[in-house]
Amino acid sequence: MKTPRVLVFSRFHIFGRWGMRRIALLLVAVVMLSSVVVGIIPPVRHADGQTAPVLEDKIPLRYRDWTLISVAREKGNLNDIRAKLGNDVAIKAYREGTLPFPDGTIIARLAWDYVPSEEGDRAFGNSQSFVAGRPKEKEGIQFMVKDSRKYASTGGWGYAQFNDGKPGNVAVQNTCFSCHAIIKDRDFVFTRYAP
Ligand code: HEC
Repeated sequence: MKTPRVLVFSRFHIFGRWGMRRIALLLVAVVMLSSVVVGIIPPVRHADGQTAPVLEDKIPLRYRDWTLISVAREKGNLNDIRAKLGNDVAIKAYREGTLPFPDGTIIARLAWDYVPSEEGDRAFGNSQSFVAGRPKEKEGIQFMVKDSRKYASTGGWGYAQFNDGKPGNVAVQNTCFSCHAIIKDRDFVFTRYAP
C-alpha cells in the first residue's frame, strides 16, 4: 500500500502555517501573563524577615486626600512652604497622643515654592501676602512610613522622597534618619498636630 502522502502533507500544512503562528501567539501570551503575575508578587523577603531596601519606592495611593496635620515654612536655601498630611492611622495616633506611632502610620510632607501674591497684596492694600506657588520638584514629596520590623534599623520608620513623581536618590534618603534622630523622644517626628 502507498503511504497517504497527501493526508500527511495536509495535516502538516494546517498545523504548519496557521497552527504554528497560533502556538507562537499563545506562548507570547503565557510569557506576558506570567510576568504580570510576577509583578504583583510582593518583594522577596530575607530569612530575617526584612525586605531588601530600607525605603518605599511607591507613592501611597490617594495620599493627597489625607488629613492635614500642620504646616511649616522653611527659609534659607529651601525657601518653601510645606504641609504635613497623615493617613487615618497617623491622625488617630496624633489625636489620642499615642507614642510611639503604631505600625501603618504614614506621614506625608508636601512643599511648594513660597511666593508673593499680587492679588492678596491688592486685597489687603499692603505688600504682605505670600502663598504656595509651584509644587517643589526637587525634594517634592517626602514620606515617613512606620513599620517597626521592616525599618527596625532606622527607628521603625522608612523614609522616602519623590522628585517630580519619581523615587529620589537612595543616598539622599539614607540621610533622613540621621537628622530626624534628634527628635527621638517624639518618635522621630518633628511636626506637632495643629488642632
Ligand atoms: C536636616 C534635617 C532633616 C533632614 C536631612 C530630613 N528632614 Fe524631614 N524634617 C525635618 C524637620 C525639621 C521637619 C519639620 C519641619 C519642616 O517640615 O520643615 C521635618 C519633617 C518631615 C516630615 C513630616 C513629619 C515630621 O517629622 O515632622 C517628613 C515626612 C519628613 N520630614 C521626611 C523626610 C525624608 C523622607 C527625608 C530624607 C529624604 C528627610 N525628612 C530629611 C528635618 C530633616
